[in-house]
Amino acid sequence: MATALDTEDTRAMAKSFQSVSDNFGGSLEDPLPFYRERMRETPVMKGDILEELGVPPIFGNAKGRPVYTLFRHADIGAVLRDEDSFTSSLIGEGLGSFMGTFMLTAMDGAYHRRMRALLQPCFMPPVLKEWRESLIEPVIRDEFIGPLVPRGKADLIKDVGLGFPVRVIYAILGFPDDPAGMEVFATMALKILSGPKRDPEEAMRARTEALAASQALHDHVKPLVEKRRAEGSKGNDLIGRLLRTEHEGVTLSDEQVTDFVRMLLPAAAETTTRTFGSLMILLLERPELLARVRADRKLIGKAIDEAVRYEPVATFKAREAARDVEIGGVAIPEGSIVSMVIQTANRDPEVFDDPDTFDIDRRPKPSFGFGYGVHMCIGLFVAKAEIEAAVNAVFDLLPNIRFDPDTPPPRIKGVGLRGPDSVHVVWDVP
Ligand code: HEM
Repeated sequence: MATALDTEDTRAMAKSFQSVSDNFGGSLEDPLPFYRERMRETPVMKGDILEELGVPPIFGNAKGRPVYTLFRHADIGAVLRDEDSFTSSLIGEGLGSFMGTFMLTAMDGAYHRRMRALLQPCFMPPVLKEWRESLIEPVIRDEFIGPLVPRGKADLIKDVGLGFPVRVIYAILGFPDDPAGMEVFATMALKILSGPKRDPEEAMRARTEALAASQALHDHVKPLVEKRRAEGSKGNDLIGRLLRTEHEGVTLSDEQVTDFVRMLLPAAAETTTRTFGSLMILLLERPELLARVRADRKLIGKAIDEAVRYEPVATFKAREAARDVEIGGVAIPEGSIVSMVIQTANRDPEVFDDPDTFDIDRRPKPSFGFGYGVHMCIGLFVAKAEIEAAVNAVFDLLPNIRFDPDTPPPRIKGVGLRGPDSVHVVWDVP
């Protein structure tokens, strides 16, 4: 039976997903040992480790600013906490240059605080509870996992993980039920993510494509936003909430809502896909743990948190020094770029006991897989609700799920973005 997204557009989406993986994959499948060696020699390193590993930056650096790379949890936490000394506008010159001017991750200071205060209530747990029951759980169970049951085998990325985050966001937004529109929407978002490149010639070509995709996404969203405004901005979906939200007399214009929606997909879809894929691998590799989590579903939340620590999908953060600063005894001049390796911070033995063990029972401590400080992921609860719903549906509907013995074991890989390209599994058909 066909899954919800088994069409030509889905194949285009899978191709774009692969091209994002290739773009940010870099030259090492598992860069952690390499980082650790560097971290031992120079915990605050002058130079751009991403460049060494052939990964395009998410930040812009047309001004040729010096780059410093940080590895330690304490240094990275201090930077992410200090929004006055370390600003984010450089994201707007990189990936953000494809996404209009209303890009939350690239905003700083009072403006970011005001906009975040406007947007945050649209993503809080009471809102989420409604979305979870009426939309997230039924969509994932009935449209993605349910139809797979008689097949007895699947690729959890292509058949499940690639589609559900897009489908859920599309539904949360309150867009019309239009699968073709949704898939075009998703493919465009992935093309935007393929925009940044290292090679200047390739960068020019990819930039043109990413800008065209971004414009197409804008032109798809804007009329829907205007229509909803004209109809009175009603409804509990995200667009309705964004149109009505208000903080200290400030509201969002149609253009701002359109731009926010446009940035949402690249932020929300692909990250959730890869995190779901990595978590499924980490559980399937540990049958005893898998059985324990299956028997006690309250543990799924802990397993997600630990997966985001152990294998963060977003492996780098970047900020710009807004003044002369010193980190770990190294002087960093104003205007420098500070590039932060989340993988080493999340596995820092100074903070996490036995950091290379996947341990869902560890004492919770801040890790940076969902970010940290004022820019911490606004969609955190949405992402966790989606992944939890997907894991629950897998446990309920796919008995005795295990890796497919006829395909090579899946791998979590990549430098700039981490996750598996595929997770082939089989189960007992009831
Ligand atoms: C597992 C899935 C996800 C991961 C790992 C993830 C990760 C992150 C990280 C690391 C940041 C911080 C960026 C920075 O500090 O520069 C961030 C910010 C953000 N995320 Fe997520 N995210 C996920 C899912 C989502 C979802 C589902 C949504 C929306 C529904 C979303 C929307 C956003 C937005 C709008 C920001 C910007 C917040 C700000 O700058 O104030 N993300 N995310």
